[in-house]
Amino acid sequence: MSDAPLIELRDVHLAFGENEILTGVNLRLAPKERLVVLGQSGSGKSTLLRLILGILKPTGGSVHFQGGEVSKMRRRQLNAMRQKIGMVYQYSALISSLSVRDNLALPLEELTDKKPGEIDALVDEKLKLVGMADARDKMPAELSGGMRKRIGLARGIIMDPELILYDEPSAGLDPVISSVIDELIIALSEKIGATSVIVTHEMESAFKIATRLAMLFKGGIIAEGTPEDFKNSADPVVKQFITGATEGPILEGAK
Ligand SMILES: Nc1ncnc2c1ncn2[C@@H]1O[C@H](COP(=O)(O)OP(=O)(O)OP(=O)(O)O)[C@@H](O)[C@H]1O
Ligand SMILES: [Mg+2]
Repeated sequence: MSDAPLIELRDVHLAFGENEILTGVNLRLAPKERLVVLGQSGSGKSTLLRLILGILKPTGGSVHFQGGEVSKMRRRQLNAMRQKIGMVYQYSALISSLSVRDNLALPLEELTDKKPGEIDALVDEKLKLVGMADARDKMPAELSGGMRKRIGLARGIIMDPELILYDEPSAGLDPVISSVIDELIIALSEKIGATSVIVTHEMESAFKIATRLAMLFKGGIIAEGTPEDFKNSADPVVKQFITGATEGPILEGAK
């Protein structure tokens, strides 16, 4: 990988008061990679995404986006950075009082000076990409969970982001819709050339989507590699996580 990293985390520490969540995370993400972040509940995966967005500041170390240090950015730089990042939330986070069209149009209306006609064209284009063109004039409450998730995806990419952050994109969905979402993530990264960070618990999805995986455990990245590396890993934590076994190092200390 000779590309300059899009994101780089250097010895990142993060504590909430006494509670140390991350204790030295190092991570580099090259353009167009799809990095899947694994880790048990509470290991700091969502926290990692918030650090990349600059919503949280590291208590030690630094986060860099396109070479700029996120915690040193002024508001204007931070806003410019966030326009290049699409976030897909676990529960879609659509605004219930707005139609699908208006949910998608919102960032374009607030952050760009595009005309209504251009905005409508972009909304339609993104809805088509996720196979939801017919839902344009519906309200979020009229949609199923899987449909909402797809609309959440469409909203995440409405600004043609260079980086897309997905927080458990297929959690709680049926296996078929879950595969549809996996394929969409791959297709989107290829179609718009975006780099992706995907947090997921679903191992089957993880192996399908990832160009690289990283496993968070006890505050750090304890394993990093290709899906093949992970499948063949001798690391007891990785093995236990992949197989979902109850015996192993992961629950020690919790018992
Ligand atoms: N704003 C906050 N204030 C205090 N503690 C927090 C805050 N946000 C997260 N935490 C704590 O940080 C830890 C990591 O949380 P995080 O949400 O990153 O976990 P996660 O790996 O995403 O878990 P899950 O898989 O359950 O979503 C948890 O112990 C959580 O209680
Ligand atoms: Mg989380």
